[in-house]
Formats: sequence, structure tokens, C-alpha cells
Amino acid sequence: MSNAFNSIIVTGGAGFIGSNFVHWVVDNQPGVYVTVLDALTYAGNRENLNGIPENRMTFVHGNICDSELLEQLVPEADAIVHFAAESHNDNSIADPEPFIRTNVEGTYCLLEAARKHSVRFHHISTDEVYGDLALDDPARFTEDTPYHPSSPYSSTKASSDMLVRAWHRTYGVNATISNCSNNYGPRQHIEKFIPRQITNILCDIRPKLYGDGLNVRDWIHTEDHSSAVWAILTQGKAGETYLIGADGEKNNLEVLRSILSRMGKQPDDFDWVRDRPGHDRRYAIDSSKLRRELGWAPIHTNFDKGLDATIDWYSNNRDWWVSAKEAVEAKYAKQGQ
Ligand code: NAD
Ligand code: DAU
Repeated sequence: MSNAFNSIIVTGGAGFIGSNFVHWVVDNQPGVYVTVLDALTYAGNRENLNGIPENRMTFVHGNICDSELLEQLVPEADAIVHFAAESHNDNSIADPEPFIRTNVEGTYCLLEAARKHSVRFHHISTDEVYGDLALDDPARFTEDTPYHPSSPYSSTKASSDMLVRAWHRTYGVNATISNCSNNYGPRQHIEKFIPRQITNILCDIRPKLYGDGLNVRDWIHTEDHSSAVWAILTQGKAGETYLIGADGEKNNLEVLRSILSRMGKQPDDFDWVRDRPGHDRRYAIDSSKLRRELGWAPIHTNFDKGLDATIDWYSNNRDWWVSAKEAVEAKYAKQGQ
């Protein structure tokens, strides 16, 4: 399948990865018009789309569970790229309910609209649907790894993936799925690991490390996620899943120490805090299918350079995050984290 798209709906386009994708499309795909559909939850920020010309994008403030709204938007589009989700594991442990509504019911509503209007559908998912790997296991996740989600968040993402597979097989919806590893880069909410620690240091708060700090995440720059999603949207095969990753395995202690040293702190200038219940030990992605079949490759292969740029972004954009900081830290403090 090779597709040219004139008009795409991007759900969750005011969030971290969605907004980076919208900027990427506007910068790299001149003929494409984007309609962002976003509910502007605590994680969404209209400012994330600042600078995008009016003739390239419309912003619709609305909910993916609103089928009447979808009925107005979807017939006008060639494709839906579905990023909208409740995305934070710790929040899903404290209160799973919004995760069921947005991640499961919201995906269902979008799939029904895509089915009715025969619109191409790309679903953004996560490597967390596969559960975790042991630290000493040489294996990495592939498209054939069985689903084994651990948290309320990852179980709702696994559920949404299953809906997409069923809507493709039963109704023939022209759908693909991508499961990506941990993203980093500009505009990530400060509840997440890397921006939380950077903004802690900028606020003279000691960074916080869960458990023994040896949990491994496989880091990818969000711009590489965007180029991979575009490759799958335009060249991917209907019904297929593609894993997205950039060979960026690192444990949390290593990442934190790198942030500390880059920001002029000592290696032990942080607090050990209570572990996350059910904390996945290690994620690792084998993205060879995507590289082999669609010719994709990441360009941000130097993590230290990407981390420096991310630290600079949070240092230079205090106004973007400072009003949320107190509430985020108060919430964590209540959880002993
Ligand atoms: P985010 O929390 O930063 O942004 C989510 C966006 O979705 C926000 O703008 C929010 O307002 C919007 N939204 C939430 N509920 C909505 C609803 N009911 N209707 C419309 N909009 C709604 O999330 P993110 O980190 O950018 O993640 C985006 C997607 O990528 C998610 O599907 C997530 O599962 C997936 N993913 C994330 C990562 C990662 O490292 N962050 C890795 C792999 C996959
Ligand atoms: O793997 C992809 C997933 O990556 C996405 O599906 C999720 O949407 C995204 O939030 C992310 O999930 P994680 O749980 O891996 O990300 P988080 O930033 O919450 O945590 C990264 C690691 O850092 C994890 O092992 C927990 C740890 N951590 C986190 C925070 C917030 C800490 O040690 N201290 C912290 O303060």
C-alpha cells in the first residue's frame, strides 16, 4: 500500500508526541493539512502547536469519545493518526477509570468512524503491551512477542490494540499499529521521568529515583518516532504491526546520573523513593521489521546530545512548565514518590 494523504486527523495532537508529530508533518510534508482533535486534558497544551501556519492546521477542542463530533470530522479526512490517550503509568495506578474511557472506549469510537467512512487508521501504541524482560535476558520485543501488560495503563493500550486488530480482520478497516519505546525530547509533561528530574534540578528539588534504579528503558527521540509513524502511515501494510525503537537501552540510574552531571550536580545528589507497584523491569525493542520493510532509520542516535538539547529546552521554556510543577510534586509526595 502506498498512500498520498491531503488531509489527516491527529488525535492527541496537543500532547507531547502528538504535537511533535504535527510539527514534523508541517515541516516535512508540504501538501498535508492537519486537523488536531484534542480534549486538552491536564496533559494537553494548545501552546504546543504555536507557530503552525493557519493554512496548514485546524485545532478542534473535543473528545475522541464524542461520536457526533467524529461524524462531522472523519468524512472530511483521508486518515486518522491516533495518539490521544491517558499516558502515565503512575496515574493509572492511582485512578484507572479515565484510562478505560479514553484508551479503550475512545479507540472504539474512532474505529467505528473509520469503518463507517472507509478512512485509513493508524494506531499509536506502546512496547509496554508486551510486559517486561529480565535484565539478563538477551531477548528484545518483536512483533511476535505475546501480549503481557502489567499496569492499568498498559492493559488499556493492549485492549485498544486488540480492538484495532479485530476491526481490521472483521470489518476490513485499513489499519496499522505501531508499538514504540520510551520517547524523550521537548514538550514532554513534567510528570514523566526525564523532564521531572530536569525540572527538579532547575527548582532546587532533589531528583527522585524509584526502587533500585536498575529498571531499563529503551529511549528514542520523539522526532524519530514521528518519522517512523509517517513511514508506516504511508507505506505500511494494512493489518500489520510495526515496532519502533532506536537501540537506546539504558537503566534509570544511568540516565539520572547523566542528567545530574550535565546540570553541574554530584552523582549522589538525588533521593531513592518508593518503587512503582508492578514496575516493569526492562523494555527492549527489535525494530528490524520497520527498518527492513519500510527503510526507516533513526537520526537522533546520540542520546547525550539529545539529552543536552532536552535540558536546554526545559531551561529556556520555564513558563511552559512552571505553573504545573507544584501540583505534580505534591501528587508524587502523597504517593511517597
Ligand atoms: P500525553 O499524555 O503527553 O498526551 C496525550 C494527549 O491526548 C493530550 O494532548 C491530551 O489532552 C489528549 N487526550 C487525552 N484524552 C483525550 C480524549 N479523550 N480525547 C481527545 N484527546 C485526549 O501523551 P504522549 O506521551 O504524547 O503519548 C501519546 C501516545 O503515544 C499515547 O497513545 C501513548 O500511549 C503513546 N506512547 C507514548 C510513549 C511515551 O514514551 N510517552 C511511548 C510509546 C507510545
Ligand atoms: O515504554 C513506553 C512508555 O513509556 C509509554 O507507553 C508511556 O506512555 C510513557 O509514559 C513511558 O512509560 P514509563 O512508565 O516507562 O515512563 P516514566 O517516564 O513514567 O518512567 C520511566 C522510568 O523511570 C520508569 O522505570 C519509572 C522511573 N521513574 C519515573 C519517575 C516519574 C523514576 O525512577 N522516578 C520518577 O520520578
